[in-house]
Amino acid sequence: MARSLCKITDLTADEIKEIFDLCARMKKREIAPKPLEGKSVACIFTKASLRTRISFEVGINELGGNAIYVTDNEIKLGQRESIADAARVLSRYVAMIIIRTFKQSDVEELTQYASVPIVNGLTDLVHPCQILGDYFTIIEHLEPKERYQIAYVGDGNNITNSWLNLASLIPLELRIGTAEDCNPDKGIIAQAKANPQSKIIITADPKEAVKDADVIYTDVWASMGQKHLIEEKEQKLKKYQLNSSLLEVANQKAIVMHCLPAERGREITDEVIDGPHSVVFDQAENRLHIQKAIMAFLLK
Ligand code: CP
Ligand code: NVA
Repeated sequence: MARSLCKITDLTADEIKEIFDLCARMKKREIAPKPLEGKSVACIFTKASLRTRISFEVGINELGGNAIYVTDNEIKLGQRESIADAARVLSRYVAMIIIRTFKQSDVEELTQYASVPIVNGLTDLVHPCQILGDYFTIIEHLEPKERYQIAYVGDGNNITNSWLNLASLIPLELRIGTAEDCNPDKGIIAQAKANPQSKIIITADPKEAVKDADVIYTDVWASMGQKHLIEEKEQKLKKYQLNSSLLEVANQKAIVMHCLPAERGREITDEVIDGPHSVVFDQAENRLHIQKAIMAFLLK
């Protein structure tokens, strides 16, 4: 089985540092490795994507390789043939597989049967590349600190779960402000709480989450595959909107983050996302650099 990234906890804290170091050096153009020279990568997307798809395709080209984008309409993973057979066949053609889909178990199964690295480009459960890129962005923007205070307000989703995964490896104070039945995954919360160097707070009070935080993060209230639930989610989550009055409670040097795409006026207001605290487009740019570093790391 090749080395893959299905979730952040597939890595160790030292490996994350190694990926960040690679990322910084590639971003500064100090190094330009070509581990994909003469090779192809399959990019299987069952859900929509702008950032993940384009940054992976550009990144694959910059690492010397060729990206093949396929939607699940062609492959029909697990329907037209078993995931195991698809994994075995794809491994004969390509050097790596990037996959965005619904079920985390499908990504884990692909990993089990493929002989090439698999990279999770988002599932309903986690979005590991996003949060690795986001933590890299935090290190770039803020003074070094042993344990950043990160406030996440809104729906407890794949982004929140990935923050918790990171907190189980790296010291973080993670304060999640969300409604009671919008909590992140219970097992992932327990795993993060087991890291004595991190502090995990789940609260229904958005101000308690945001108070004095270094980073204020939010994401859409209804993720892909849940858009039909938006009205229900909006009722539960409206007090968690990231607006100027909530931002006033934060550390005045705090940065505002959103993985994008944003539903402006819903989970975040225009004045906050376009305001002086926002680093959302640096965050989006870093998806390219981190993805290249993740691929170079897995291919080494
Ligand atoms: N943040 C992110 O993954 O964006 P896309 O859904 O556009 O890829
Ligand atoms: N939680 C969002 C993230 C999009 C990048 C979703 O899954 O739709």
